[in-house]
Order: sequence, then C-alpha cells, then structure tokens
Amino acid sequence: MIFESLKFPTQHCAVVNKFSVHEEVQEKLSCVAAQHQSVGPFMSTIGGDEQSQPQLSCYFPNSEESVRFPKQEKTSNGFFDYYLLDASSLLPVLALDICPDNTVLDMCAAPGGKSVLISQFLLIRGCLVASEVANQRRANLIKVVKDYIPKISKTKDLVHVRSLTGLKYGEYEPNAYDRVLLDVPCSSERHNLHTNFEFSFWSEKHSTENANMQGKLLMSALQTVVPGGFVIYSTCSMSPIENDGVIDEVLSKCTVKKQLKVEVVASQFENNSLAKMFDYRMTKHGVLVVPSKTKNWGPMYFCKLQRLTI
Ligand SMILES: C[S@@+](CC[C@H](N)C(=O)[O-])C[C@H]1O[C@@H](n2cnc3c(N)ncnc32)[C@H](O)[C@@H]1O
Repeated sequence: MIFESLKFPTQHCAVVNKFSVHEEVQEKLSCVAAQHQSVGPFMSTIGGDEQSQPQLSCYFPNSEESVRFPKQEKTSNGFFDYYLLDASSLLPVLALDICPDNTVLDMCAAPGGKSVLISQFLLIRGCLVASEVANQRRANLIKVVKDYIPKISKTKDLVHVRSLTGLKYGEYEPNAYDRVLLDVPCSSERHNLHTNFEFSFWSEKHSTENANMQGKLLMSALQTVVPGGFVIYSTCSMSPIENDGVIDEVLSKCTVKKQLKVEVVASQFENNSLAKMFDYRMTKHGVLVVPSKTKNWGPMYFCKLQRLTI
C-alpha cells in the first residue's frame, strides 16, 4: 500500500513567500483548487500566545486529488511568489518552534525549501545560517536564498550560506544556536523509487551506513545548540534504523558522555489541527508521516530534542 502510494507523484502545497507582493500571489492562486490556511509553530510552551507568533501562509489542495500549481515566478518587487513542497516538509520546521529573534542553524540545507520556511518566522533580530557541503547543491541553495529572501539592510544578511560540514559545528561553534534543524541525507525511498525505478537499492547495510553518519551529525547538532535550545532531527525515510534507531544511539552516547544532557520532548504535532491532513504514526521518539493513496505526503520522520543545562 505504502509502496503503491510512493509510486504516485508527491502532492504539493504552496507556501506564500512573505517577502513577495502578497496581493499578486493571492490573485494568481485564486484560480487554483486550493484552500488557504495560516499555520504557526507547534508551541512547546503550554499557554503560549499563538496570535503573536508569525505564521506561514499556505495553500493546500482542496481535495485528495493532486493540484497543479502554476509555476513559481517573481512578483514585481523581484522576489519569488511561493515555494512548492510536500506538505510533510512543513512539519520539522513547525516543530522547531522558532521565535522571531532566534539564531537558527539549518545544518544540511540544500536545495533550501526548509531554509525558506525558517526565514518566514524571523524578524530583523533573528538570523539563519544555512550550511551545505556539496558545491553544486550549495550553488542552488544560494540562488534559492537570493530569489526568496531579501537582505535586512545593505550590510546585514538575514541568511548566511556556509560550506562548513555539519560534523564540525559542535567542535567549532559550541553553544551557539537557539534552534538547529538537522534534515539529514537518508535512504529517501520516494526519491530513489522515482530515480531508480526499483526498490533493490535499499539494503540494511546502506541504511546502517547512513545511520552512522546521521548519528555523528546529530551529536554535532546537540553540541552547537545552546542549553535549553531545541534540535529537530528529520529524515524522509521509513527505515527505523535511520529514525528512532539514531535517536536511541545518540541518547545512550549522551548518557555515557555526561557532558551533554539531552531529552526527547513532545513536538505537540498531534495536538495541532494540521495533524488530520496526514496519515502518521507516533513512534518511540518521534512522528512518522506515512504516504497513503488519499494523503500522499511523506515519508517524513521527525523527533524533537532539547539540550538541558547540566
Ligand atoms: C535531505 S537533504 C536536505 C534538504 C533540505 N533540508 C531542504 O529542505 O531543502 C540533505 C542535504 O545534506 C547535505 N549534506 C550531506 N552531508 C552533509 C554534511 N556533512 N554537512 C552538511 N550538509 C551535508 C546533502 O548534500 C544534501 O543536500
């Protein structure tokens, strides 16, 4: 069933770019069979003031059928109108619970969809570092950032694109970021199915190799986040080895190390009205969005971790 769903093209939603000319976007999307919804961060603080939080302005397909959105274009101020993505990609960013003045690290950032989403929550005192090691992918990321996100002023950027490997942040910049998004390279079953036509690429050995790298990246993320700050670990894989398996491994390493105190915390996803749009399972540590024929979003796994003060 999941395999059948994966063979269909991903459904898309459109996230309106707050830096574009809103009225032009609204007019363009008025003829699309999609409904508008504002979505905010999943709040970790019970009783937090949702009204004062910036929101994402999204268009979701009206029915279970896939909707064809018109191609993205620049509005009259030079910035692109919206970003198209699988709606499950919203969830790790919403779970990060970004405040407008946060310093955020997107540790594996290209092609840049989640960096664009993060930028929508930040105001002038906030800042995003988007890191990507692969040269060509980083070039694409730079283009996306330029197309979607303005500078704060002539001399100040909202987004800084860097080439530093995620593996080094913990060592070079300990206790530096309020929020870290770690959207790791993974087995990515949907992507591989559409490029390789076979499921034969999947092997436990390959998944275990991925998990090894993912665990190292997660340790680095937990060291570079400030005590009290949040890390979201996410994959677009259904492999338990790369999902809860990585979290188990890292939690036991932290217990042994003792210099790093970390806790898995509830993302609050299942209490949010957005949850009914998805087929999902609560796993030992996180949430796994599972593609189905009628809700063909994902796969997407995410887990929220908080670094505690020792
Ligand atoms: C799943 S993709 C990220 C997708 C991105 N977050 C988005 O939403 O557009 C993973 C990315 O991590 C990059 N990557 C792999 N190893 C890395 C490392 N050690 N440090 C930083 N980025 C890395 C890959 O080149 C790839 O572009």
